[in-house]
Amino acid sequence: MRIIRGKDYQEVSRITARLIAAQVLLKPESVLGLATGGSPVGTYANLVEAYRRGELDFSRVRTVNLDEYVGLGPEHPQSYAYYMRRNLFDHVNLDPGSTFLPDGLAQDAGEACARYDRLLESLGGQDLQLLGLGGNGHIGFNEPGDAFLLPTHRVALTESTISANARFFESREEVPRWAYTMGIRGILAARRIVMVATGIAKAQAVYDVFFGPVTPQVPGSILQLHPDVTLVGDPEALSLTPAENR
Ligand code: GLP
Repeated sequence: MRIIRGKDYQEVSRITARLIAAQVLLKPESVLGLATGGSPVGTYANLVEAYRRGELDFSRVRTVNLDEYVGLGPEHPQSYAYYMRRNLFDHVNLDPGSTFLPDGLAQDAGEACARYDRLLESLGGQDLQLLGLGGNGHIGFNEPGDAFLLPTHRVALTESTISANARFFESREEVPRWAYTMGIRGILAARRIVMVATGIAKAQAVYDVFFGPVTPQVPGSILQLHPDVTLVGDPEALSLTPAENR
């Protein structure tokens, strides 16, 4: 695992965007695994800027997102489909037919999850998977206690995740209680993983994920077993890691 330190959110975002840009430049038909939440917003903004400067071409890129809330359709402003359009898809030359998220409105949850896994397989896995990190160590919506190595599945969100994500909704009551998430199995299939983590609220989770025991109680800790993981963090998020990283 590599740790790259940026001095603040802006620098972390620039560094993370550069890693993704390099991936697309080296392999224009890359499959990018994408994440939502507050952490990658700056990364996407930097990618959009690079595209506008003419440095990046997304026309052959395909994207697969980690997760989606159950019950929210793509027009719902808090859906992850909407988030992706607002932050990235609408501003670059990605083919809308090449961007994929779990279907929050699927009637048959089992079939929706199986379909997403078939899609991942048909794309050949992600060349690069971008991840945020939940304060409780979750990645995607793989919550603590889920067995490792699940495929795409429907998950009940924990109270701490509902509280953490309530800031994006008008009230806590509006936060969906369920989500579809790519499983750990799908995440680990990525050839490279880049995690972005900033702020003091992530410090304990960063420590637990990368320096604690590998346990389903800390879902991200399985990343310790992946051969190519880069963590891009600010000094606050890295504040509990061994001194040489801070
Ligand atoms: C949500 C998402 C995760 C994300 C996490 C952290 O629960 N499903 O993919 O990593 O939040 O979000 P933030 O970056 O806003 O702290």
